[in-house]
Amino acid sequence: MKALLLAGGTGSRLRPITHTSAKQLVPVANKPVLFYGIESLAAAGITDIGVIVGDTADEIRAAIGDGSSFGVTVTYIPQERPLGLAHAVLVARDFLAQEDFVMYLGDNFIVGGIGELVDKFRAERPDADILLTRVSDPGAFGVAELDATGRVVRLEEKPPVPASDLALVGVYLFTPAIHEAVRAIEPSGRGELEITDAIQEMITRGLTVRSTVITGYWKDTGNVADMLEVNRTVLDTIESCLQGEVDESSEIVGRVRLGHGARVRRSRIVGPAVIGAGTSVTDSYVGPSTSVANDCVIEGSEIEFSIVLADSAIMGVGRIEASLIGKNVQVTGARSTPQAHRLVLGDHSEVRITP
Ligand code: DAU
Repeated sequence: MKALLLAGGTGSRLRPITHTSAKQLVPVANKPVLFYGIESLAAAGITDIGVIVGDTADEIRAAIGDGSSFGVTVTYIPQERPLGLAHAVLVARDFLAQEDFVMYLGDNFIVGGIGELVDKFRAERPDADILLTRVSDPGAFGVAELDATGRVVRLEEKPPVPASDLALVGVYLFTPAIHEAVRAIEPSGRGELEITDAIQEMITRGLTVRSTVITGYWKDTGNVADMLEVNRTVLDTIESCLQGEVDESSEIVGRVRLGHGARVRRSRIVGPAVIGAGTSVTDSYVGPSTSVANDCVIEGSEIEFSIVLADSAIMGVGRIEASLIGKNVQVTGARSTPQAHRLVLGDHSEVRITP
């Protein structure tokens, strides 16, 4: 069995972070979200992985390499434009050959792994197995309608009037029967070849499409609020590990991971939190559910329930909450008169200033 891991696309809902970076590489507890997907495939015994890449191919390749650090072999499959999830299956046709495969969306996050699902699929081998979960906003996802016996009767992508609250989770198991279905469908209203339509095509052709409703934790990390929630969930599971230096005037409370060469001075860190290697925290407070990546500077500030990417500095700005701060960002305070905010913000930035 092979895997097709989708790491292309544009990530418009995570702008401006995704103007310069792949959305699948935004870190959760200081590890790219994509790595969690690769680890769950490897844990399920799937080691031959095709990775779909688009505009951010160089960055994805630099992060994953040949896959050996995960114990897997990676084949990169370029997709010229994000023309849809079913289009990704089309371009991966040669790689997938006649094997069954798991399709895994690179920005999806599932706690608990996929081992059991893969074993069940291998044993029973329906034409396809999809994962579903109950959500409060089904219109934002692919939605499934089941009959009284639990069989999938209809699927619809982001329906204005959802037929149920069962959303398609971004992990799908397929036999090679999917290939004929992706060739038979037309682009949707949003101009994409939808995998939802391809699976609907399989149902229409009388093939067996199973569904498994998962009750564990799942999130599509496509937007900032979900990203922060996933970060909180993962941080809830970390163990303390202090590899950096903490001076005597500082206090570490709860579970905190402090990387090599990190320095904490005259500060208070309340976990669960991770502070990356080489980062310095001075005269500051870092609160629960916060991940600060490597080589950052936090000085004279407070930050909680946030993610800060590498090489950024937050200095003299009071309190920051529920924020996602990109790479190489400078957030600084100014004591000048007149009192004014001076900003250099990229396109699609979002700033909420307390007057
Ligand atoms: O997260 C679950 C949802 O994922 C499902 O409920 C939907 O049925 C499914 O269509 C999908 O919806 P999204 O709108 O969230 O998909 P998105 O465009 O964000 O793409 C998902 C991943 O696949 C993302 O990592 C980018 C990548 N991708 C996407 C497209 C359209 C590609 O690699 N190539 C593509 O052409």
